[in-house]
Amino acid sequence: MTQQTSPAPQALLPGFTLGAYRIDVPLVLAPMAGITDLPFRRVCKRFGIGLTVTEMIASRAVEQGRERTERMAELDPGERPVSIQIAGAEPHFVVDAARWAVGHGADFVDINMGCPVKKVCKQVAGSAMLRDESLVARVLTAVVGAVDVPVTLKIRTGWDEKSKNVERIARIAEDCGIAMLTVHGRTRAQMFHGHANWEDIGRAKAAVSIPVIGNGDIVDGDSAREMIRVSGCDGVMVGRAVQGNPWVLGEVRAAIMGEAPPAPPTAAERWDVVYEHMRHLLSHHGERTASKLARKHIPWYSKGLHGSAEFRAAFQHYHAWDEQMAAAEAYFLGLDGGPELARVA
Ligand SMILES: Cc1cc2nc3c(=O)[nH]c(=O)nc-3n(C[C@H](O)[C@H](O)[C@H](O)COP(=O)(O)O)c2cc1C
Repeated sequence: MTQQTSPAPQALLPGFTLGAYRIDVPLVLAPMAGITDLPFRRVCKRFGIGLTVTEMIASRAVEQGRERTERMAELDPGERPVSIQIAGAEPHFVVDAARWAVGHGADFVDINMGCPVKKVCKQVAGSAMLRDESLVARVLTAVVGAVDVPVTLKIRTGWDEKSKNVERIARIAEDCGIAMLTVHGRTRAQMFHGHANWEDIGRAKAAVSIPVIGNGDIVDGDSAREMIRVSGCDGVMVGRAVQGNPWVLGEVRAAIMGEAPPAPPTAAERWDVVYEHMRHLLSHHGERTASKLARKHIPWYSKGLHGSAEFRAAFQHYHAWDEQMAAAEAYFLGLDGGPELARVA
């Protein structure tokens, strides 16, 4: 009798090299202000992702030297390689911020030219910079020349539908020495509406030979596979879908690596992650801020689960850390002995 062996998994993407690092799993956790702090990045890292990025840090904030800014740049040796993301429009401030990021242990410095927020765009930073290609080149050249780690760039596809310039910006980035480009397939005018245009990501990919990471609307393994097929991107970045559901990273990772999707978490596994997140929130931020952040993050974990609406409503009323912990444990483990909590279809 011949023995059946399962074929070796066939990765959809081969990974790439970035400076001193080999990124074998080209799956990146999206930088998200107010979300991807060190506690959440630690939680996400356990799902085997290749790269994490801090929340955006404004170069002006670096100059002001606030304690909060320092905390945003705290990294965990276990999350390496990790990128610190900076933003700004004045080359000398961005250069100072990049040097500061490297001084804080960043393996890569990521420059944000994708942020659509009015306050940021008003200072001609974030996605507003895409309207001024010579400024883009000046900032990128200055930063690449100032630090000895790879500098990467994150962009949208342009300011609005009429002025899309994703291919030109991609070429400028490559010419300036940018080591990796992430493209969120929306224009600034779209904010977060409509759909990300994965073909536009493909246009950037075709224009350059540096690794291009596709971003926008990845919610599971299937969407990741489809983005890779449509755009030909070298890696995938996941953002909003991770909020309250870091397990999605395991699913996307499996899709990219050609492996079988992991089983959905049991109630005990779900609580294990929620507990770890809460523990990291407390140790990183202290009780007051941790409590506030828990009120945002922890109810997300209940989305689609039985009793979610009641849990969310009740959780907002707990202000003491011990109460929050007890309420979360009771809900996520299940008061009746912890049968697996089925997701509501
Ligand atoms: C709450 C929130 C905060 C964000 N903050 C940042 C940021 O600091 N830097 C950045 O480059 N993009 C930021 N983004 C954009 C995401 O990185 C990502 O490009 C976008 O959400 C699209 O990916 P998704 O469809 O997987 O969410 C943020 C998005 C959200 C929803």
